[in-house]
Amino acid sequence: MTNITIVSGTNRDDSYTLKVAKYYYDKVSTLYEGGKVLLADFRELPKDIAFEEVYGKRRHLFEQFIETYIIGSDKFFWIVPEYNGSFAGICKVFIDAVHPRYFYYKKSCLTGVASGRAGNLRGMDHLTMILQYLRMNVFYNKLPVSKIEEAWGDIEPRMEEQKKLIMLQIKDFLRY
Ligand SMILES: Cc1cc2nc3c(=O)[nH]c(=O)nc-3n(C[C@H](O)[C@H](O)[C@H](O)COP(=O)(O)O)c2cc1C
Repeated sequence: MTNITIVSGTNRDDSYTLKVAKYYYDKVSTLYEGGKVLLADFRELPKDIAFEEVYGKRRHLFEQFIETYIIGSDKFFWIVPEYNGSFAGICKVFIDAVHPRYFYYKKSCLTGVASGRAGNLRGMDHLTMILQYLRMNVFYNKLPVSKIEEAWGDIEPRMEEQKKLIMLQIKDFLRY
């Protein structure tokens, strides 16, 4: 059994990233039968993570978070917002707080979310370099979702074309 984790890569309240991550969660859940599908919401991270967990302090809640969403899964969808030309800082802090061996030889699929036109292409490339350093296999189809305020409704993309692109990416990654 292989679990899949959808990472919502920001702790910002009311983020579009979480909306997109929830959409992925619904779609992957309907398509995947080989294990559990989980949604890791970074708003649930400890508030002091940048001063404590990142340097080795372990609270039970954080241990549980890592166990549930990282150790127990072999495949990851990273939904990452564009903040100042890259993925969100909280995402790097989180990665730094997890032992590298829990990422080794697992698989990642990346989707960028941005107000601007680039759809966080650069941030996905930055994240790719880090995940590959952590010996992860990063899926070739990285999907930029640009102009997110126009592209997304309350729960799903406004355009059929966007829905198709996401389904293609998901189905292909499930085979990967
Ligand atoms: C700190 C910060 C920096 C941002 N920098 C950029 C940026 O460089 N390029 C861009 O297109 N949008 C930028 N945005 C807008 C986000 O891409 C936008 O809020 C989008 O909805 C994704 O973030 P969200 O999931 O937090 O909503 C920034 C937003 C924040 C909060």
